[in-house]
Amino acid sequence: MAKLQKFTCVDDVPNLEQALQECIDIKNNPLGTPNFGKNKTVGLVFLNPSLRTRISMQKACQNLGLNYIIINAGQDAWTWELHDGAVMDGTTVEHIKDAAKVLSEYCDVIAIRCFPAFKDKEEDTQDKVLNQFIEHATVPIISLESATRHPLQSFTDMLTIKENWKENRKPKVVLTWAPHVKSIAHSVANSFCEWVKEIDADVTVTFPEGYDLDTEYTDGLTITNDQDEALKDADFIYVKNWSSFSDYGATPEVKGDWLLTLEKLKQTNNAKVMHCLPVRRNVEISDEVLDSENALVYQQAGNRLITAQWVLKNIL
Ligand code: CP
Repeated sequence: MAKLQKFTCVDDVPNLEQALQECIDIKNNPLGTPNFGKNKTVGLVFLNPSLRTRISMQKACQNLGLNYIIINAGQDAWTWELHDGAVMDGTTVEHIKDAAKVLSEYCDVIAIRCFPAFKDKEEDTQDKVLNQFIEHATVPIISLESATRHPLQSFTDMLTIKENWKENRKPKVVLTWAPHVKSIAHSVANSFCEWVKEIDADVTVTFPEGYDLDTEYTDGLTITNDQDEALKDADFIYVKNWSSFSDYGATPEVKGDWLLTLEKLKQTNNAKVMHCLPVRRNVEISDEVLDSENALVYQQAGNRLITAQWVLKNIL
């Protein structure tokens, strides 16, 4: 496969089916190329917290013999200015374009996580931090989740579905909204929609009224506000909360109970249950479901290592 120029969305992967097969090969032999990354350095830039993304990237670097530098940009680095032409006489200390160019002097690839601020829809949708790194860094960029997408998670989710689907027909895959206690980004749901279109599956997206996702991602998928109807005969259920996109970041009142329970699983084809984690137990998914054999959540988390390794191998 041609070397990746960047890894920010499904379009950056030239052949997803081949990539998934290569992930399975990596999983069978994760330590097969221990000197691949000799004398190369990955910069891992976090503007937000992480467990899975942070640790899976570190472990992937270790498996490939890569050095890594972690920059907790929210704490360890100077506050970044994002706006071109800004007169920097306020609280920002370093322009992001300078930070991107400087980090490129030390790193062979830069991976960055930056969540939406939920202050300005247009600014979040433009993914300013990620895109300024792409524009100004002189090395390839990996998204570790931005306001709009979480490509490493979705790549992992496609691998997990592939591993768990052995029947000779398309699986029915349902992305269902779930309750939460605060405003949550659209990135995982957007990305899931974008990537799942690229595999052979019948896909339904279900959410309460007021929680439509950006149609850029959901176009072509079956959409319904009726969760019961959506779950009928499902083979995989992907559970995720997101806030309103049209009333950006709002959490409009929801009718009915959207918590995924064992009772709801009975409507499905003994569906496997997926979630990117972290999960709010008994708010999004009940304990009984999460602790059941139907849950794939730890396999998903484990697969984050595999896709991280694939991306690093194909971008360096
Ligand atoms: N799923 C995921 O990205 O987890 P973290 O936020 O812990 O990295």
